[in-house]
Amino acid sequence: DFDLKTNEKGNLKIGEADAVDLAERFGTPLYVIDENRIRDNYKRLYNAFKDYYPNFKMFYACKANTNLAVMKILENEGSGIDAVSPGEIYTSLLAGFEPERILYTGNNVTDEELKFAVESGVRLNLDSISQLKRLSKIPEAKGMEISFRVNPMVGAGHHDHCITGGPLSKFGIKEEEAVEVYKMAIELGFKPVGIHSHIGSGILDPEPFMLAVRTLMDTAGKVHKEAGVEFDFIDFGGGIGIPYTPEESKLDINDFAEKIVDLYKAKLEEYDLGTPTMCIEPGRYLVGDASVLLTKVNTIKQSYRKFAGVDAGFNTLLRPTMYGSYHHIVSASTPLAESTQTIDIAGDVCESGDLFARERPMPEIEEGDILAILNAGAYAFSMASQYNSRPKPAEVLVNNGETDVIRERETFADLFNKQNVPVRLLK
Ligand code: LLP
Repeated sequence: DFDLKTNEKGNLKIGEADAVDLAERFGTPLYVIDENRIRDNYKRLYNAFKDYYPNFKMFYACKANTNLAVMKILENEGSGIDAVSPGEIYTSLLAGFEPERILYTGNNVTDEELKFAVESGVRLNLDSISQLKRLSKIPEAKGMEISFRVNPMVGAGHHDHCITGGPLSKFGIKEEEAVEVYKMAIELGFKPVGIHSHIGSGILDPEPFMLAVRTLMDTAGKVHKEAGVEFDFIDFGGGIGIPYTPEESKLDINDFAEKIVDLYKAKLEEYDLGTPTMCIEPGRYLVGDASVLLTKVNTIKQSYRKFAGVDAGFNTLLRPTMYGSYHHIVSASTPLAESTQTIDIAGDVCESGDLFARERPMPEIEEGDILAILNAGAYAFSMASQYNSRPKPAEVLVNNGETDVIRERETFADLFNKQNVPVRLLK
């Protein structure tokens, strides 16, 4: 279960703040982030690996949540960053991450983006031979340390869209081509120092990770032997899932870390690879369960089905519509109450797919109630849009009951940002 905390009024607590009270003070829809939960998640995962293999680093996959305050919290904790675009590099630098702490893993990167990354001084993890060749034409990139993303032919994830390894994936270089590509990089004057893979997202089973570690290490072994590469780091990407349904169980992180590290060490020894830094790139695990989305029920409607209509939609939280993802939903004023009905919970976007839940067991809900959509910290605000001309919601950070607005609610004016109407149309 989700270990929901309530206060003396019986209202849901987030980071010691009353969810109903937050909705009233800051309006809805509202993302509420618990700072300590992010810090705890970071420490738990970091320590689990660090205890078994001290030469270990984590790069937060900031696509999960790019709010500057969230990034600053992880910067304080000592994390690095996995960035996928110039915008994410820029945001990371602004949040105080030194360039050496940022690993840029782009996909289908333009020359301009490559140049930007080189000039920023971040580490480059290349996704294709095309990228390597184009990088070699940038004078400032001469002699740079680089790494490659390899497709280890293993993929896993909570949805087809979130599987990033295997024969259908657009990411990385072919495993069989790795030796050749590393040799090519050396010939072009680069210094390859790393190897990387990321097999997918939302994985709660250790098995696919183990397979990926095995394959990537075998590839690293070959590249070391046949291309003479000395690895400074080996990066297994992100993907660790979190439970979204009450029935799912958490991955046992200590057991997981021990298994991975045992295999890693055995392979280092097998191929005489020394003790390169072991890296992972968690996104969802660090921020996913640290946030809830508060939304207000404005309509109870008995049509052919029973609906609770709320003031958030897939413009606010896309995952249910995009991946059919389950997000647990509780009433913020009766979070522990027994279910007495099943009801569809629908957003306010004018599309049929705009549903947070179908036939969800819920207690009584009335118009005006606040619902808390749980586990809305990862790929939630970062995938929000202004579709239907709805300004994006605010984000509030809670720290032991203290609140800070870390992103103001957008206004109508934000809907027109950067638009121009040609004068000739103003007749
Ligand atoms: N590293 C790389 C290279 C990635 O592409 C990703 C995620 C991660 C790390 C972090 O994965 P995580 O630890 O968060 O699973 N929008 C989808 C998830 C897309 C993930 C894309 N890549 C969702 O809402 O489930």
